[in-house]
Amino acid sequence: MRRHSSPFVASAASVVLAAVALTGCSAAAPSDDAASESPSADALVVYNAQHEQLTEEWVAAFTEETGIEVVLRHGSDSELGNQLVQEGEASKADVFLTENSPAMSLVENAGLFAPVDQATLDLVPATYRPSSGLWTGIAARSTVLVYNPELVDEAELPASLMDLANTEWNDRWGGAPGGADFQAIVSAMLELEGEAATETWLDAMGEHATVYQNNIATMKAVNAGEVPAGVIYHYYWFRDQEKTAENSGNTKLHYFGNQDPGAFVSVSGGGVLASSTHQDEAQQFLAFLAGEQGQTILGQGYSFEYPVSSGIPAKAPLPALDSLDAPAVDPSKLNGPQVIELMTNAGLL
Ligand SMILES: [Fe+2]
Repeated sequence: MRRHSSPFVASAASVVLAAVALTGCSAAAPSDDAASESPSADALVVYNAQHEQLTEEWVAAFTEETGIEVVLRHGSDSELGNQLVQEGEASKADVFLTENSPAMSLVENAGLFAPVDQATLDLVPATYRPSSGLWTGIAARSTVLVYNPELVDEAELPASLMDLANTEWNDRWGGAPGGADFQAIVSAMLELEGEAATETWLDAMGEHATVYQNNIATMKAVNAGEVPAGVIYHYYWFRDQEKTAENSGNTKLHYFGNQDPGAFVSVSGGGVLASSTHQDEAQQFLAFLAGEQGQTILGQGYSFEYPVSSGIPAKAPLPALDSLDAPAVDPSKLNGPQVIELMTNAGLL
């Protein structure tokens, strides 16, 4: 594995970058929301690992609609998931929101979620929520290969994500294994291809891929021609294209399709903690996110993540979610702890 180095590496800035990377793709370091300096005891406490800007848009609209105050505590998927497991029934959290499913599974497997209201589940197609009904999908994101056409011919694009372990891709691709996004992709690979194939793939990555801090750093490196291709989620590319395309203008996206692990669609989750003393308000919040208003904010805002419910379409020019030919994976089955172990063994963490 090559660790990407830059002029920042030996400076204090690298410490800041590392902290940012740990808290998800674009989130700031863990913090309480500044807007909630003196929350009332009735306020809903949301442990938020989704992108801060999106959740803040949701909360503003929800509070306006219902008068229910919300306090946000930001962090990464694994950080907040592990915190909830540690806190157990003593947690002050009412709701948990993530970017990806493995952290939801972690909390689900610890028996800490209350069942989601059936009316909310009914808004979300079965593909985008766990069969358990103990949490629900609130957004989705697609795995893609971002590539630089100057360095990769279209004819040589890999048919499968698994092909990146083949020798022709040695030292020609990168990713951000330290982030929950990439780890979710590996968890899908583990579920679809099994442990031996995943181990082989991770070993190849450990030896022959370049490691970046996060999705944006990966995309920038491909754009700059430092590496021919990278595994990321789709929305970073579309956001950049909508702005100035300064970090993606030299790149294209390759969708694996064909129910390949590389076509994995990761479900962002929302769940109500069983220990919450605000069950009704917490269920209202989830219903709002999955409902027309919440999904419209998601579908029309800055985010470019996919709405998953209430029939709200994806933002143009995104390809429709059901056109991506994603593999069928029950989000409840994604095993975060095993992925961490395998990635650690491969020297990636
Ligand atoms: Fe992200």
